[in-house]
Amino acid sequence: MHSYMIEGGQPLNGHVRIGGSKNASLAVLSAAMAIDGPCVIENLPAISDIEILLEIFSDIGATVEYIRPGAVRIDARTINTHEVLHDRVTELRGSYYLLGALLGRFGKVALRMPGGCDFGVRPIDLHLKGFQALGAKTEVAHGIVSCQAEELTGGGVFLDTVSVGATVNIMLAAVKAKGKTVIDNAAREPHIVDVANFLNAMGADVRGAGTDVIRINGRPTLPANQEYTVIPDQIEAGTYMMLAPLTGGDITVEGVIPKHMEPLSAKLMEMGVTVEEGEDSIRCYLKEGSKLKATSFKTMPYPGFPTDLQPQATVLLCVAEGTGRMIENVWENRFQYVDALRMMGANIITSGRLAVVQGNSHLTGSRITARDLRAGAAMVMAGLAAKETTEVLDINRIERGYEYFVDKLTRLGAKIERVES
Ligand code: EPZ
Repeated sequence: MHSYMIEGGQPLNGHVRIGGSKNASLAVLSAAMAIDGPCVIENLPAISDIEILLEIFSDIGATVEYIRPGAVRIDARTINTHEVLHDRVTELRGSYYLLGALLGRFGKVALRMPGGCDFGVRPIDLHLKGFQALGAKTEVAHGIVSCQAEELTGGGVFLDTVSVGATVNIMLAAVKAKGKTVIDNAAREPHIVDVANFLNAMGADVRGAGTDVIRINGRPTLPANQEYTVIPDQIEAGTYMMLAPLTGGDITVEGVIPKHMEPLSAKLMEMGVTVEEGEDSIRCYLKEGSKLKATSFKTMPYPGFPTDLQPQATVLLCVAEGTGRMIENVWENRFQYVDALRMMGANIITSGRLAVVQGNSHLTGSRITARDLRAGAAMVMAGLAAKETTEVLDINRIERGYEYFVDKLTRLGAKIERVES
């Protein structure tokens, strides 16, 4: 087991290049399992979730060739089974995209129930509702999800809740279904648009991604044989942007799409942070004499404030002036990490989906654990803000989604090292 040892209290300054989006990469790589030819996917982040998913792909017979850091050549035509029972399926949520991809490819699929961060129930009822709308029979038994269709035919589905996973999974099954599919109340995240762009580059006909209605005209084959570059990671970028006002530093994130960061940029400006947008960069800092002021956040599906930046923003509220509020509208139980912040001196009251954060906390060093990926990143941020030593345990959870984390933080002036714990 490894942990991070952090000597906090220094302002972090400098430039940091943002890697490819974890959640777009998981969806685009899975979409490659549905197409009928080779493709090259670039800008993949160097994180364990991607390594695990590619291991699962190889295990079912797909051809996976690492051509250079962040780039793989994939050919799904060599897949030799519709059953995905590999142990590592349960280690990440993103493996659920193989349901749509292999259902589209073989007309049947059996997949071990996916895993993922534990902050409440992670249902897949909307995914199954979508597959049923395409004519598939679905069953969940003995920890395995099975779907089967004589012939996948286009259909209409209204998503009761806006769901990133269900939107992508239904797209992956529908691109080769016979006829037209309409997904209503679809998720609009940047990674939804990214996977739709990938599919269209490979010969599919997906329209409306980025809006709440996505229309798909099924095609019998998707010839592929193209290259595709994944978008930058909105959540990695947001984590580094918040580190600037948190530590009293000045950080520029590079290789980003500023439009994707608007939900956070707007809130940071509301808090008194200067946010300067370039073509593919964003600089964040507090002007001389400016104070970080508390505000209220509400997590919502895109283009609302992303739930995956919720723990990080709560840490920021701890050091802001005044009383801040965080309302978590997407997940039912995503404040478990608050106990660790209290151990560091934070003054936070939680009730259901609401956290009330007393500002001006002087966070103190402590020994805390990363409960999940984004809460773990928030623990590191709290350690960087505390003026003492903090040890963050279970960092494998953080390294699922943050590439070269110690290296990138060190280059910004952080005193952090990865040690055996
Ligand atoms: C994706 O999870 C992300 N994971 C999550 O990021 C992110 O928090 C979430 O979207 C919301 O943006 C990946 O992309 C791999 P949802 P997903 O389906 O697809 C309910 C990270 O840190 N729901 O959009 O599982 C669900 O309970 C991770 O990168 C159903 O009711 O999320 C939740 O309340 C953490 N039935 C809401 O919808 C379903 O069938 C949104 O879930 C599916 C979801």
